[in-house]
Amino acid sequence: MTSTNDIRRSFLDYFEKNGHARVQSAPLVPHNDPTLMFVNAGMVPFKNVFTGLESRPYSTATSSQKCVRAGGKHNDLDNVGYTARHHTFFEMLGNFSFGDYFKDQAIHHAWTLLTKEWGLSPERLTITVYHTDDEAFDIWKKVTGFADEKIIRIPTKDNFWAMGSDGPCGPCSEIFYDHGDHLYGGPPGSPDEDGDRFVEIWNLVFMQFEQANDEIVAELPKKSIDTGMGLERLAAVLQGVHDNYDTDTFKALIEASEELTHTNAVGDQMASHRVIADHLRSSGFLVADGVLPANEGRGYVLRRIMRRAMRHAHLLGAKDPLMHRLVPQLVAEMGQAFPELVRAQPLIEATLLQEETRFRQTLANGLKLLDEATGGMADGGTLPGATAFKLYDTFGFPYDLTEDALRARGLKVDRQGFDAAMAEQKAAARAAWKGSGEKASDELWFDLAEEVGSTEFTGYAGHDGEGVVRAIVKDGARVNEANEGETVTIVLNQTPFYGESGGQVGDSGKLTSLKGFEGDVQDTSKPLGRLHALRTTVTKGNVSVGETLQQSVDVDRRSATRANHSATHLLHSALRNVLGGHVTQKGSLVAPDRLRFDFSHPKALTTEEIATIEAEVNAEIRANEPVSTRLMTPDDAVAAGALALFGEKYGDEVRVLSMGRDADTRRYSVELCGGTHVNATGDIALFKIIGESAVSSGVRRIEALTGEGALAWLNARDQRLKDAAATLKASPDEVPARIAALVDNARRLERELADAKKALAMGGGSQGQAAGPEQVGGFGFLGQVVEGLDPKGLRGEVDSMKQRIGSGIAALIAVNDGRASVAVGVTEDLVGTVSAVDLVKAAVGALGGQGGGGRPDMAQGGGPDGDKAQEALSVIKDALAAVAA
Ligand code: ALA
Repeated sequence: MTSTNDIRRSFLDYFEKNGHARVQSAPLVPHNDPTLMFVNAGMVPFKNVFTGLESRPYSTATSSQKCVRAGGKHNDLDNVGYTARHHTFFEMLGNFSFGDYFKDQAIHHAWTLLTKEWGLSPERLTITVYHTDDEAFDIWKKVTGFADEKIIRIPTKDNFWAMGSDGPCGPCSEIFYDHGDHLYGGPPGSPDEDGDRFVEIWNLVFMQFEQANDEIVAELPKKSIDTGMGLERLAAVLQGVHDNYDTDTFKALIEASEELTHTNAVGDQMASHRVIADHLRSSGFLVADGVLPANEGRGYVLRRIMRRAMRHAHLLGAKDPLMHRLVPQLVAEMGQAFPELVRAQPLIEATLLQEETRFRQTLANGLKLLDEATGGMADGGTLPGATAFKLYDTFGFPYDLTEDALRARGLKVDRQGFDAAMAEQKAAARAAWKGSGEKASDELWFDLAEEVGSTEFTGYAGHDGEGVVRAIVKDGARVNEANEGETVTIVLNQTPFYGESGGQVGDSGKLTSLKGFEGDVQDTSKPLGRLHALRTTVTKGNVSVGETLQQSVDVDRRSATRANHSATHLLHSALRNVLGGHVTQKGSLVAPDRLRFDFSHPKALTTEEIATIEAEVNAEIRANEPVSTRLMTPDDAVAAGALALFGEKYGDEVRVLSMGRDADTRRYSVELCGGTHVNATGDIALFKIIGESAVSSGVRRIEALTGEGALAWLNARDQRLKDAAATLKASPDEVPARIAALVDNARRLERELADAKKALAMGGGSQGQAAGPEQVGGFGFLGQVVEGLDPKGLRGEVDSMKQRIGSGIAALIAVNDGRASVAVGVTEDLVGTVSAVDLVKAAVGALGGQGGGGRPDMAQGGGPDGDKAQEALSVIKDALAAVAA
């Protein structure tokens, strides 16, 4: 038997041998098509190559493209498990020509590969062509030698393939395989064509046109080829089975679930095993491509798939979470062809375990409620919408899971009632919303969120991608378009632009449209926590609601921001390690050019502490450990050691970001965080603390730089050191010692200068040297006016004058820059008789000043009129004489 892996390889080998570039499957989340939830055909990654927007270094290609058909337009979820050929995940083998070959070669290749390389009997094959496509009919006739009735003309859309309402399209030709007359069914175009006997295996699309709104609007620049062959169907044919679930890959997965649940895939249990095998594949691949379970958007489709499988595991009697234990088998089967599966294995297992553990907490009670509600119902009965809503809201049952659970019993669900209950809950939530206080703007965002839904953020994985404009807001009101020169806020259905939250600033970047619109996004905010609002100035053309835009985030800015955000987490852990567990985050700012982190700590950090923290963060950076993200409930996250970020509101699920490693297996940093981060700590490159200060009592702030910013800062410091060295005519290494010597020298010189000034002043200023003590009113009196004596030295001088007279009064007036300072001292024996304070006050008055004071034995004061110094001295003498009188 040829294995599915061999079949895939042999298909790709064949086309590679025939000059096609072998192209790896693109991720399941389409980056170039905002209207698609998941890639659902092999040509999706090449859409813009067909329309001529994008060019590649090759003109023919081949791939085995991962596809998911669940959610969105193509939704096969409900049928999986109950039919032979429905899957939520499948691979589409394809060969593509972008203006190289056309119908002739496409048909030739398909026929050669099927009948010559793989040896399928032409008897088993039937061809269809679009009814007007004589050219294809004639080529097929020549290549196969078939009778006319084996090349069937089909007049319907079945043989005119279009990607969707918009995009490349063209007539197509399908190849059918006849599984044999033991099965019911007729050839294509016959009344019983839907039977299981004739199965379409390969679709060759002759891409020629481009559609907009289901109308052909243009011819493609070059006639092209897109083909698609479901690998699982082909494997069934080549392995001689009729049912896709009997092929090797599915058999291996089903055997694994049989073994783990001790049940067999027969009878009623067959559907459960098939659902589990199929959903395991889609869940595994979606997680590997960056989708995580959530309550909205792609994440909710994933959650629906997972929970549907988990209910079937429960049906099979699994007592504990099952799905994660099947992942090794999935990786064994498909990991070689898809290395991303191997890389993501731990994440896939952890995500499935987390989801199943959580869902099992409510699953049994939900099923009980469902049983009670439907207990008496006969076949064809309908479950009330309100009950389905309760199952959804309280027990985590996605709507289609409830449907699936009732399907076996022939019961339906009242969808309208469910939708009404949902609408009621939304209205209640709105009424309860406190808002930001700006009523008008809150209302606007609320209306908008209700109408257009949350914005899906695609920026964890990439920096660009398309999006459909859902709303334009100008000056607080909705508008339909914006023209050149206007600044508006644009909301798209999905965006890679990060909206400011969790301390991280919003992204900036560019928007463009094929119609020539260009816009500068200056900033992105996140109203209501779920809309991404792009503040945009239209620089060229105009933009309207409903248009598809190309979005590209300023990558350099985002990368720098990312490094700063990840460094903030490392800093948080380092602070706790070095300062203690009392450190908690009080706020943060993560911008492209810097980071700021506020935290609780009672005192300033020492230089040593700062150095230790910085060194610890840099050691983690050099360890270059991967940064990983998981989704958890807030409680589980905290139990896992996550540090919750201050002031953030958390929903049912939180992203848990871990990085680095310490001696234990515990990660160096585990935090709840919705921000964008580096892939590995080494991407931060360098961490430098440039400031430590107080914010308020008990709260400190660290400011730091990373990467190029840190390097630029260090270089600037280095340059300043070099400049200083040049001035000193020394080498940078000698600078500290030279400066210390200079400072010592300067101090010494200052001291010497002060002494010299004093000696000069006291020794004979312009006002004359003090004569010896004189007698005033019977008291010994020593008085002097000096120029240029530092007023700080006055008291000391007066003290020594007091000593010189032994008993009496000393008065000294220093004049500096026209101002006078006066000090008067009274020797101990005269205290009580003469008051220094009174004498100073008298002098201050003469100097044009006010006040003056001190103690009876020593008082000081001053005044602006330095030229009255001699007068003031006389006033003191007069006052002294008056005391005696
Ligand atoms: N794009 C074509 C399909 O999906 C081949 O069927």
